[in-house]
Amino acid sequence: MWPTPPGARRVAYRDGVNGVGWRVAMEAALYGPDGFFVRESPGPGGHFRTSVHASPLFAGAVARLLHRVDSALGHPAVFDVVDVGAGRGELLTALLAALSSTDLSTPEPPCGQPPENVASARYVATHPVHGVGVAAGAASSQNDLERAPRVESAPQAEPAPQAEPAPQAEPAPQAEPAPQAEPAPQAEPAPQAEPAPLIERVRLVGVEKAARPDGLNARISWRSTLPDQVTGAILATEWLDNVPLDAAEVDAAGRLRRVLVDAGTGEETAGPAVGADDRVWCARWWPDPRPGERVEIGWTRDAAWSEAVGALRKGVALAVDYGHRKGERPRHGTLTGFRGGRQVAPVPDGSCDVTAHVAMDAVAIAGGWPYTLITQREALRALGVDGARPPLDLAARDPAAYLRALSGAGAAAELTDPDGLGGHWWLLQSVGLGENERGRLRQSGGLGEGAVGLQESARGTMLG
Ligand SMILES: C[S@@+](CC[C@H](N)C(=O)[O-])C[C@H]1O[C@@H](n2cnc3c(N)ncnc32)[C@H](O)[C@@H]1O
Repeated sequence: MWPTPPGARRVAYRDGVNGVGWRVAMEAALYGPDGFFVRESPGPGGHFRTSVHASPLFAGAVARLLHRVDSALGHPAVFDVVDVGAGRGELLTALLAALSSTDLSTPEPPCGQPPENVASARYVATHPVHGVGVAAGAASSQNDLERAPRVESAPQAEPAPQAEPAPQAEPAPQAEPAPQAEPAPQAEPAPQAEPAPLIERVRLVGVEKAARPDGLNARISWRSTLPDQVTGAILATEWLDNVPLDAAEVDAAGRLRRVLVDAGTGEETAGPAVGADDRVWCARWWPDPRPGERVEIGWTRDAAWSEAVGALRKGVALAVDYGHRKGERPRHGTLTGFRGGRQVAPVPDGSCDVTAHVAMDAVAIAGGWPYTLITQREALRALGVDGARPPLDLAARDPAAYLRALSGAGAAAELTDPDGLGGHWWLLQSVGLGENERGRLRQSGGLGEGAVGLQESARGTMLG
């Protein structure tokens, strides 16, 4: 038996099968009959706070991004916004409001307080027994984030060597040109019709395993599977962390063994060695775990993201989630539970949310298109949400405006807190955009040089 890291759960490595793998257990607990996410309930927002619930500033920023993508696409007649893992439609509802607002130049002030009983977001905490100070994607990695390259892009293939141009034939002597008639005066080009406002062209779709919530705005359609041929944007906020995955631990002999869990109690035991498919993923994305260390085998998230991005014909796919990158993986896992605003042990009996951080770099590569991976703090700042306090003299000039701005600054500070929601990752993947469209995306909306995330990296890729 190898030493158990302090605070980590000791997995009883008995031989024999006792339980099922976490992937199967999560699937049943979250999405099976009467599963945690699909049964009638207030939905995820009743148990934890995501950025969407924290403040409408988040939807305001996403709306500004949508405007930029719309410009880059040349204002298509229909602009799809597909929210995958849409919860109870909170983001789409807030986007409808934000897109209806005529002024997207500044962040909208918050229009309400987040639910009081749901104090906890799901970001810093790790399982109280699995986690040993592994605040993946958040507190512990903050220094790493600061050291890390700010914009990460998919590697570009070396350009193929160009073939030598064929020698050109000598041009034949040209006949004397016939005298040209005086050109007719050109008609004044017809003024281009202004595109209809985005709010009139947008088609909002929630993709959710849970049923359509009562009272959802009629402009939002609801379905359980991805549409195809999407032109516009695919959004996924805190979806991938709920895509079921298996966990494995390295035993004393160095073998990576699947962790089995008793669905009734959450007790874990060691199962058989992981299969070849799991080993391939681990070798690439989570190499060299040591005895006693845990790996969360993320290929299911890669597959889910790849399918979502595959639904996009043209536009941008955005995943926002807590996670980690190679070299920063948590050593003892991040599987945890949430219920009623509190972090609880991850018992896969349907009584709580079960979630694990996302290997964001693996997901990005699986998306198969150029990408940008930045923190939410960086992304929101690039989209005009920075949490700065309003100037003090505003308090004297216009106390009500000062108070509004102060409350907005507080909400922005929560969304951009590097130890909290601001430490989440934004993975922006552009699909099907040509060089011109990417150029328009760069130029639009004032995201100039130095704006994080929506610029080309030195290697020439960007959000598309
Ligand atoms: C943590 S909640 C996030 C809700 C919302 N996006 C937010 O940020 O507040 C994850 C949601 O994803 C949904 N979900 C998970 N897998 C899904 C799938 N394959 N298709 C559709 N919805 C899915 C769950 O039912 C759940 O409502």
